[in-house]
Amino acid sequence: MPKQLRIAQISDLHIKPPGKLAYGRVDTAKALERCVATLNAFEPAPDFLVISGDLADTPTVEEYDHLKRLLAPLKLPVAAIPGNHDSRELMRNAFPDAPHAFASGALNQKIEKGPLDLVLLDSSVPGKPHGELDAPTLEWLSETLASSPERPALLFLHHPPFIAGIWHMDRQNLRNANKLAAIIRRHPRVQIVATGHIHRAALTMFAGVPCTICPAPNHAVDLDLAQLRAPSFRIEQPAFHLHTWFEDDGLGQVVTHQVPIGKFDGPHPFFGPDGKLL
Ligand SMILES: [Fe+2]
Repeated sequence: MPKQLRIAQISDLHIKPPGKLAYGRVDTAKALERCVATLNAFEPAPDFLVISGDLADTPTVEEYDHLKRLLAPLKLPVAAIPGNHDSRELMRNAFPDAPHAFASGALNQKIEKGPLDLVLLDSSVPGKPHGELDAPTLEWLSETLASSPERPALLFLHHPPFIAGIWHMDRQNLRNANKLAAIIRRHPRVQIVATGHIHRAALTMFAGVPCTICPAPNHAVDLDLAQLRAPSFRIEQPAFHLHTWFEDDGLGQVVTHQVPIGKFDGPHPFFGPDGKLL
């Protein structure tokens, strides 16, 4: 079996103060509890967890305190980047031990996990719903990717750098995606660009590499590809992403599985004690 490393990704937690529902309807705290339970029960255990933004909802200190209590049972090491519902300052205080690249401003991080570099980019724009990578972040990304070209890199940011087809979300995606694409094209060690924000799974190619959107543990943005309805959400099967890197010649290969959150029947054997298919 090839050597592997399993990086779980969850996104868009939207934690409210205790007892408060998102949009008057969604218990995001309960949704995160179920997500943490599924992550903890998953075998083989992931090696690391990335939370790709919108950890809080408003945001407030009370929400980040609530988030930390909900994450406390988690058995995995974790790192987080802000989304448009987060506050850089409140997140800096909530995760004081995080190896942030800058002492102020964007909360970028490079995390070395075995043979992989996890590069976490802060695409949030304070006070705005859309995403943008600021000049220091782009410069830091260029330098970081140039530093060890032989190591595979997984990029994480909140805002998708592509049009997903849902009109009211697309106007909030990453504004300067062309600048991100230009950097990625110069660095073949980037294996995947993993995002969130849309609360539903999607996949495309971006700058020559796979680019994913991770679903949320709570509500899903309505899949309205033709502007048929007002901005809406649905309660669908929640899930997270598991990006598994397999050692191979060169930079290896990343495979992304979508894992449903909850308890399900099984596993049941295909084969009986005699080795024959049941
Ligand atoms: Fe978002």
